[in-house]
Amino acid sequence: MSQVKTVLAIESSCDETAASICQITDKGVILLSNIIYSSLEIQTKYGGVVPEQAAREQLKAIIPVIKEAQDKPKLDKDQIDALAITLGPGLIGSLLVGVETAKTLALVWKKPLIPINHLLGHFYANWIIDPKNPYPTLPAFPCLGLLVSGGHTDLVFITGHGKYQYLGGTRDDAAGECFDKSARLLGLPYPGGPQISKYAQSGDPNKYQLPRPMINSQNYDFSFSGLKTAVSLLAKKLQPKLQDPQVLSDICACVELAIVDVLVAKTLKATKLTQANCIIVAGGVAANTKLTEQLINQANQLLPKVKIFIPPVNLCTDNAAMIASAALYNPVPVDPLKIQADPGISLSNP
Ligand code: KG4
Ligand code: ZN
Repeated sequence: MSQVKTVLAIESSCDETAASICQITDKGVILLSNIIYSSLEIQTKYGGVVPEQAAREQLKAIIPVIKEAQDKPKLDKDQIDALAITLGPGLIGSLLVGVETAKTLALVWKKPLIPINHLLGHFYANWIIDPKNPYPTLPAFPCLGLLVSGGHTDLVFITGHGKYQYLGGTRDDAAGECFDKSARLLGLPYPGGPQISKYAQSGDPNKYQLPRPMINSQNYDFSFSGLKTAVSLLAKKLQPKLQDPQVLSDICACVELAIVDVLVAKTLKATKLTQANCIIVAGGVAANTKLTEQLINQANQLLPKVKIFIPPVNLCTDNAAMIASAALYNPVPVDPLKIQADPGISLSNP
C-alpha cells in the first residue's frame, strides 16, 4: 500500500467512544486530535460497566465523536490516508458499534482499513511524542512490555513493530480488576483504581499484611484473585471501622503496594532475563503513580541502563490515539467486508 502518514482511528472496546487523527513523522507520532466520550458517569451508578447500556450510548456518540476528531485539525477525508479500528478484545456490543462504523466509512470514503488489537494498541501510546519536546526519545527494540489494563495483565518481549513473544499473563483476575474489585469490597465507586490510589496517598502501606501472589514463581504469570480474597477477609474483619478514613486509607495503601510489588518484581525479572533495552508500560493501571514511581526507582537501582517509557495519564486509559499510532507503525489493511469484531482476541491469541 502507498505510504500511510495520516490515520483516523476509532476505538469503542469498553464504555468509551473515541476517535483520533494522528500523523507519523521521523521523530514519532503526532496527535492532531484525540476525542473521547465516556459513559462512565452512567456506568458508575451501577458499580461497573453495563454492556448493553454502554453500547446504546456509543451508538449515539460515534458519529459526533468522529466528526469532532476531524473538525479539530480541520482535515477533510482526502487528507486522511487510512482508517484504523479496534477489532477486540472488549465488549461485543461496544466493539460492533466501532467496527461497523469504520467498515462503512472505509467503503464510502474508499480508504484502507487497518484492524488493531486493542492490547497491542495500548503499547503504542509510547510512540506518541510531546510536540513541545524538541528531542523526543522513542522506545528502542527489544523492549519488555508490561500491559496492565482492566481485564489484562501481560508481559511480552517486543522485538520489532508488531513482533513480540508472549511471556506470561494473569491466570485469573487482572491487576486492574483487582483494584476495581477491592474498591468495591471497601465501598468505593467504579472504577476502583483511581479511588484506591487517592485514598492510599494518606495511608500506611505496611499497616496490614497482604499476600504478593506468585511474586517468586519461576514463570512470568500472575494471579490476583487470592489477593482480592485477602482484601475481602480484611474488610470483613475491620467492617465497623471502614467508615474511619484513616483505616480505609491504610487498607488502600496496602492493596496498592501489594499489586505494585508483584508487577514491579516480575517486570524487572523479565527485563533482566530477556536483556531488553527498555521497559514500556501500557494500560489504565499505568496511570498509577505508585506503580510508575516504584518501577522507575527499582529499575534505576537494579538495571540502570534500561530506559522506562510510561504514557501520559490521558493516553494510559482507553483512547483512539494509541490505535492510530499502532496502525501507523503496522499499516496492514484488510478488506472491510472481511473483518469482524472479535471480543476474544488477546496478546497470547492475537
Ligand atoms: O486500559 P483501560 O483504560 O481499559 C481497559 O482496556 O480495560 O484500564 C482500565 C483499568 C481499570 O481497572 C481502572 O481501575 C484502572 O485501569 N486504573 C487505575 C488507575 N487509573 C485507571 N488503576 C490504578 N491506579 C490508577 N490511577
Ligand atoms: Zn484498554
